[in-house]
Amino acid sequence: VSEVSPAAHKIPWNEPDFSRRMLREHLSQDHDAASRREVGIDRHVDWIHGHVLAETPTRILDLGCGPGLYASRLAERGHTCVGIDFSPASIEYAREQARKRELRCEYRLADVRQADFGDGFGLAMFVFGEVNAFAREVAQDIVGRMFESLESGGVVVLEMSSHASVERTGSGPPSSVERTSGLFSDGPHRVDRTAQWDASSGVASQRFEVVEPGRDEVCEYRETLFAYTDDEIRALVSQAGFPSPTLYGSLCGDALPHDGDTLVAVSRKS
Ligand SMILES: C[S@@+](CC[C@H](N)C(=O)[O-])C[C@H]1O[C@@H](n2cnc3c(N)ncnc32)[C@H](O)[C@@H]1O
Repeated sequence: VSEVSPAAHKIPWNEPDFSRRMLREHLSQDHDAASRREVGIDRHVDWIHGHVLAETPTRILDLGCGPGLYASRLAERGHTCVGIDFSPASIEYAREQARKRELRCEYRLADVRQADFGDGFGLAMFVFGEVNAFAREVAQDIVGRMFESLESGGVVVLEMSSHASVERTGSGPPSSVERTSGLFSDGPHRVDRTAQWDASSGVASQRFEVVEPGRDEVCEYRETLFAYTDDEIRALVSQAGFPSPTLYGSLCGDALPHDGDTLVAVSRKS
């Protein structure tokens, strides 16, 4: 995409307190919001290990690895992983797990927009829709650098949020939720959420206003998500240098349903 896309607002996942609260959400087995629950991740890892990698020990790059829930499981199946994330609490947790479980995982605290990914990988993955949170030209640059990081024959796995799910996020009605503690605060607070969908640019914006009792100041967080049609996902991968990808409807290799939440592009560097 040659045009400069609208500004991308991001929730500050890398801010230490935010990242500590986010880690709780990643590890929670009550919901699939930050990371999927373990039972789902196990299925994804089985598919990546069995179908994408044909059970061949591989050097894997996992971007936006969070607390290493995918990387650690892939390492347990014989692969060697490098995970990159800019959340300090997640990287600390991932490193501790690797040390305790003697896993061949190295974790780097870095921003994927600037980080040097290294090279010689057999698989480069970026899962759970985080690619949709970058401005389009930044996403293109990241996928281009994933291509560079792979050896010849290496595979890219990109799991994007589907166009329909980004549109749903931007089109939802305002909501207001009271919590005793959560992602936006350790104490009692209320989160007022409003959203917008701009069909012409394919951009969803969310605004979260966090109100804490006894505090006059309202904290505001904004997040922008960029929607991609199937053809735009193919173009994102092809323009990075890969052959046109195969698209799946999930990280278990399901056939593509167009109303699903997720879309997985897989391509092999020739
Ligand atoms: C939705 S979570 C998914 C985590 C992990 N892939 C999983 O599925 O369990 C997205 C992750 O991307 C990370 N992230 C977002 N923007 C990033 C950036 N610019 N650089 C590095 N990591 C980033 C966040 O910190 C978070 O851990």
